[in-house]
Amino acid sequence: MTASDAVFHRPAYAAELSRQLIHPGVLEEGVRSGVFLSGIRRVGKTTFVRQDLIPALEEHGAAVIYVDLWTDVSKSPATLVYDAVKAEMAKFQNLEPGLLKRFKGGNIGAAGFSFGFQLDSVGAPGGTPLAQAIEELVTAVDADLVLIVDEVQSALQSEDGRALLHALKAARDAVNTRAGNQRHFLFLGTGSHKSLVTDLATRRSLPFTGAVQATYQVLGEDFVQWQLKRVGTAPGAKLPGLAAAAAGFKSMGSRPEELLKALRQLQGVEGTPADQAFGIICQTLACAAADAELRAIEGFGELGQAIFGRIAEGDAQGVSGIFSERALADYRRQTGIDVDAGQVQGLADKLVAANLIARPAHGRYAVVDPIVREAWHSRRALLLGAPQPDSRGAGDDNEPMSN
Ligand SMILES: Nc1ncnc2c1ncn2[C@@H]1O[C@H](COP(=O)(O)OP(=O)(O)O)[C@@H](O)[C@H]1O
Ligand SMILES: [Mg+2]
Repeated sequence: MTASDAVFHRPAYAAELSRQLIHPGVLEEGVRSGVFLSGIRRVGKTTFVRQDLIPALEEHGAAVIYVDLWTDVSKSPATLVYDAVKAEMAKFQNLEPGLLKRFKGGNIGAAGFSFGFQLDSVGAPGGTPLAQAIEELVTAVDADLVLIVDEVQSALQSEDGRALLHALKAARDAVNTRAGNQRHFLFLGTGSHKSLVTDLATRRSLPFTGAVQATYQVLGEDFVQWQLKRVGTAPGAKLPGLAAAAAGFKSMGSRPEELLKALRQLQGVEGTPADQAFGIICQTLACAAADAELRAIEGFGELGQAIFGRIAEGDAQGVSGIFSERALADYRRQTGIDVDAGQVQGLADKLVAANLIARPAHGRYAVVDPIVREAWHSRRALLLGAPQPDSRGAGDDNEPMSN
């Protein structure tokens, strides 16, 4: 491992999430329907899952299967998941070293567990259904089984991926509704496309409606402090104070790689106080990162930009009333063309599909990436000489929760 590979661990977050999954309280039992964790790209979701969450789940005695749908785009989501399940089953069949010790209470004899079917037949046409395979695997380990699918929204993009989701739901129901059953099959999906992940947990037409939705907790000041300390071990390193560093980190979307980049750039600055220089560097990096997305918004034309601008007035909770008479009048004024609600709906749907905006609740819309929102305001302020919006946001004057 090189120095830049070092990981800041988050044991408390991992302990809390794994407790909720494995030992849910009475009010938390919804997790057994599935859990979907969403957050923007490059904020450390995968790192957290692999480095902290999986070990914490294993500490609770669970068996964990992890699949990242973005690792190998040449393979379909279903193939990736089936392969991972089969690989896990093979471990029990062939009795990999250490398994007996980990799953002491399991049904694995000294010769390994024998499944009632050939592993190759799992997921093959006319072969063993996934639900049966997972049921037998849970029986073998005699423990909770957690399947984690990273970037799970990719499964929505193909027929075979959607079939996979239905198969997973069938497996969940088969295991979790067995009479007298103490063991559960838990499904955790994570994703960077907020609104697709929300769809997975809420759309009636999709198999996981009613699942629990959670927002990934981004890294905070303790992470920044850890990183400053590491950079500070280099002789003569220039460092911002913790407050300035934490503010800069947040302004760049709480992305670890951007923080390192900013600290690296700071080393080349002469003459300006570190805090001040660091703030400017972070601003610049955040704008550069948002540039591609700002250009994408321009691709939605005058009306698309007007709609995006209205949504960008709100905060993470989003704004409602983007189809209201008042909003339509504003769009007309801004674009100089006649605008109807249907057009606005069409463009809003396209902006959602492009992962630029999300629909956190019925009739509410929010900008997905806070950096893009900030950059949008800065650029507009620059173009118009207009004041930056206050933190309250103009979204407050919208009628409550209408469509
Ligand atoms: N806890 C952490 N400690 C150190 N670096 C981290 C941490 N979490 C994320 N990173 C770094 O940030 C980058 C993005 O992380 P990743 O887990 O791939 O994000 P995501 O899955 O949200 O896209 C990676 O280079 C990773 O090494
Ligand atoms: Mg990831």
